Amino acid sequence: MTNKNPVNAVNILDEWRESAKYWKKHNATIRTMFAPLTQALIEHAGIHEGQSVLDVAGGPGEPSLTIAEVVGPGGSVTCTDAVPEMVETARNEANRRGVKNIQFQVCSADSLPFPDNSFDAVVSRLGVMFFPDSLAAMREMLRVTKPGGSLAFGVWHKSDLNPFCYLVSRVIDQHVEQPPTDPDAPGAFRFAEPGKLANVMTRAGLVDVTERVIKFDIAAPISPR
Ligand SMILES: C[S@@+](CC[C@H](N)C(=O)[O-])C[C@H]1O[C@@H](n2cnc3c(N)ncnc32)[C@H](O)[C@@H]1O
Repeated sequence: MTNKNPVNAVNILDEWRESAKYWKKHNATIRTMFAPLTQALIEHAGIHEGQSVLDVAGGPGEPSLTIAEVVGPGGSVTCTDAVPEMVETARNEANRRGVKNIQFQVCSADSLPFPDNSFDAVVSRLGVMFFPDSLAAMREMLRVTKPGGSLAFGVWHKSDLNPFCYLVSRVIDQHVEQPPTDPDAPGAFRFAEPGKLANVMTRAGLVDVTERVIKFDIAAPISPR
């Protein structure tokens, strides 16, 4: 089931726009925390030197910036996100590092401003669970992928397997009654159920769909402020 309510879609993007300043502030920490997931996406999509890669919902720049290193000067990465402030942070970071083989575009996952068959690979790290109409977005990502190309997505597994999420939520649950959440509404754990995202991918027309659990420790130097 998909959620096509445009009001809902706007609200979600408002929330991301609100949080963009924190993603900017903690950009380096986030990059370190989720580096194992980036490596898994690169490996799973078979990304290599010389390729042209699209990152959808790239937020403040990952996995785009890491992939730019992997594809090298003969390849290119297009980093996209629906929130302009996120894209601006990613662009500033690329400029700061002097990365040349990267382009940026503000756009929604279900309306990508690229011709058919543009990219060797399409990736999204912790993005697809937030797209209001995940099936439409999946079809759109497939449309811009070259025949024989690959797509790889990173989503969260169940929250009770994820101390990064449950340590806080279990404390909140003890004190605040949480309304039941719609499992198909956009949200961090929308594709936590094994097979659920693979089902959307298959319905969109992808073939040879596989799924695997990536276990990794979230580690990064942080201060309490
Ligand atoms: C959890 S963040 C992930 C950012 C980055 N890929 C990372 O792993 O650090 C989710 C991102 O999805 C973006 N987003 C949400 N809905 C979107 C949509 N419909 N189209 C494109 N991007 C979207 C948000 O703006 C946000 O930057």
